[in-house]
Amino acid sequence: MRYIKDQENLNKKRVLLRLDLNVPIKNGIIQDETRINKVLPVINFLIKKKSKILVVSHVGRPQGKINKDLSLKPICEFLEKKFNQKIRLVQENIFELKRSDLFNDLKEQIVFFENIRFFNQEEQNDVNFSKHLSSFADIFVNDAFSCSHRAHASISKITQFLPSYAGLQLEAEISALKKVTTEIRKPVTCIIGGSKISTKIGIIKNLIPKFDNIIIVGGMANNILNFLGNPIGKSIKEDNCEPIIDDIFKTAKNHSCKIVYPEDVVVGKNMEDSAEIKKLNDVKNDDLILDIGPKSVSIIKDIIENSATVLWNGPAGYFENPNFANGSHQIAKAISKKNKDKSIYSVVGGGDTIALINQINTIENFNFVSTAGGAFLEYLEGKELPGIKALK
Ligand code: 3PG
Repeated sequence: MRYIKDQENLNKKRVLLRLDLNVPIKNGIIQDETRINKVLPVINFLIKKKSKILVVSHVGRPQGKINKDLSLKPICEFLEKKFNQKIRLVQENIFELKRSDLFNDLKEQIVFFENIRFFNQEEQNDVNFSKHLSSFADIFVNDAFSCSHRAHASISKITQFLPSYAGLQLEAEISALKKVTTEIRKPVTCIIGGSKISTKIGIIKNLIPKFDNIIIVGGMANNILNFLGNPIGKSIKEDNCEPIIDDIFKTAKNHSCKIVYPEDVVVGKNMEDSAEIKKLNDVKNDDLILDIGPKSVSIIKDIIENSATVLWNGPAGYFENPNFANGSHQIAKAISKKNKDKSIYSVVGGGDTIALINQINTIENFNFVSTAGGAFLEYLEGKELPGIKALK
């Protein structure tokens, strides 16, 4: 793998810089800046080298359609203030643009393409799309470790057309995670939550041989609860996961890994509702499970207390509504407390999980904070991520 930090001659070179600026945005306001702050070093580095920077990123999952709520505009405006310079957000159709349409103004140093997932060719890893993207630049830099589990055009296929390099943040994340996985102290607990069920549920089975406890919370736990015959009302759930869950329980039996899932829940009738604690059997048809209950919190806290390492990705509930944030906050506090007395090594990853620990100002109490969620779990699984493979 070649690293951008080792490159000397970048003066006036056009760099297609893939970043993960997938941050929570509500009504045009950025809710958590951590992922953006993590890429400031690579942008600064390229500014100092006098490169021309063409940023490519995504926000959310627009599925090939233009969606104003998922525009990169608020992020451009945020970065304009940080770098004290105008940043052009290209909103024209990329297919109608030519290389000579960019960086005509000699003062222009940073240009953003609009959310790259507005084009369905991105997720299809489309070869012509990558080739077209490559025509705007001289070199490619991937500084989006958190997207590198996606074989997408601006992450994977693009490397076939441009000399490609690892960015500063990507390098830092890989070396930190390498250290974590090689020097891991047992017992190890992995907490997996959040709402991206399809991204994560298939990974759990492969994590079982590596860990002592796997705690499943958040949206994914609904699938487990449902599989075990519990009502889940109108809570989020992924279809056709039964064989995967069956496999998870069978694999866990053959290894000394305990699978832990909620024993009680907190429900609401909608996301803005107040909270009601319920036993699993009492969940009604019109209930939404939005957090783990106090009994589950206490079981999880005990497990954390007896762990030497905790790896955590994905909140335990819909923490954006304070009524459903207790489970996630309690987990964060239990880890932080042990971290302060140095009796645990803790790694946390993922955009939402970072937003959550920032909400209670406890980010400093984790040994390593990865920007990556799905990519973090796939890395732990031992898989070579498509975006990393493509850089080699
Ligand atoms: C993330 O938030 O983990 C990355 O931005 C990837 O997003 P995705 O799961 O929608 O591919």
